Amino acid sequence: MDKPRLYSGMQPSAESLQIGNYIGALLNWKALQQTHDAFFSIVDLHAITVAQDPAALRENTRRTAAQYIAAGIDPSASTLYVQSHVAAHAQLAWVLNTITGFGEASRMTQFKDKSARHGQDATTVGLFAYPTLMAADILLYQTEIVPVGEDQRQHVELTRDLAARFNSRFGSTFTVPEVAIVKETAKIYDLQNPTSKMSKSAESHAGVIWLLDEPSVTKKKIMRAVTDAEGGVVFDRENKPGVANLLTIYSVLAGVTIGSLEDEYAGRGYGDLKKGLVEVVEGTFGPIRSRVIELLDDPAELDRLLAHNADRAAAVADVTLARAYDAVGL
Ligand code: ADP
Ligand code: NA
Repeated sequence: MDKPRLYSGMQPSAESLQIGNYIGALLNWKALQQTHDAFFSIVDLHAITVAQDPAALRENTRRTAAQYIAAGIDPSASTLYVQSHVAAHAQLAWVLNTITGFGEASRMTQFKDKSARHGQDATTVGLFAYPTLMAADILLYQTEIVPVGEDQRQHVELTRDLAARFNSRFGSTFTVPEVAIVKETAKIYDLQNPTSKMSKSAESHAGVIWLLDEPSVTKKKIMRAVTDAEGGVVFDRENKPGVANLLTIYSVLAGVTIGSLEDEYAGRGYGDLKKGLVEVVEGTFGPIRSRVIELLDDPAELDRLLAHNADRAAAVADVTLARAYDAVGL
């Protein structure tokens, strides 16, 4: 039997990914690529829905690709490509715009949040249409499974609605995808503000650990992580969110249970826990960082690989686009 088709992506919105992206997305993708026919995209068309510096975007796109590969996404097993290299994304998005209700799109909470954050002058039609582009991303590959964080659930639900609507109006064209929400336990919080999600786009980077940070910088950030005055290395998300966050990161990266860490650090201080975490973080990201540097050292080879993968993606996407165009009379 064919492996189920899977699609996911991330924006190239910073020079480096942060460890939440690694734990919440890349680690999961790495496991899923064994059992799925996976398409992993670097969604640069999404990145321009807010203001960008062109040279930085181009550079960050390449760097993001290098980080996907260095983190274990295998570009010969999975299709790892840059969204804008496959023209069908923008083309299908236009068609989907024409079957999306204005009110329906207006209900997307991420748009409301982002437009509030960026202000009216920076809120573009592109930002408003972000979810229909995302629907195109998913539907072009006849995707069955979309592994995303809880914050993307509404967009995948919209994708399902649009697929079903298109199919009933114009004839069966798209697979209606399933949402596979990544477990909450894999959610990583800002080290300085452990009740808010660690994010590339956080206003302050003091509590963000970047994959490509120097070890000395990472160490400083971990040693300064916010904890509590109570003491005791105990997992209590409600009352000790800082310590719970450190334990989560530690447990995922070291591949050990939180319970065994509580035992190991029983009767010891937060300083010890942090020192242990520094080692685990460097043990994970040191080799990834070296591999990223190697990949970026040979941009022609990286570009060749991305072009080849874009061709593989287009071979699938173009078939779906042609069917959709035909169905609507284009
Ligand atoms: P960011 O906020 O860093 O820009 P995105 O919202 O673009 O990240 O998400 C990219 C991917 O990384 C998604 O799959 C998302 O679920 C995952 N992700 C982002 N931040 C975290 C986090 N703090 N913890 C767990 N997963 C995360
Ligand atoms: Na983001």
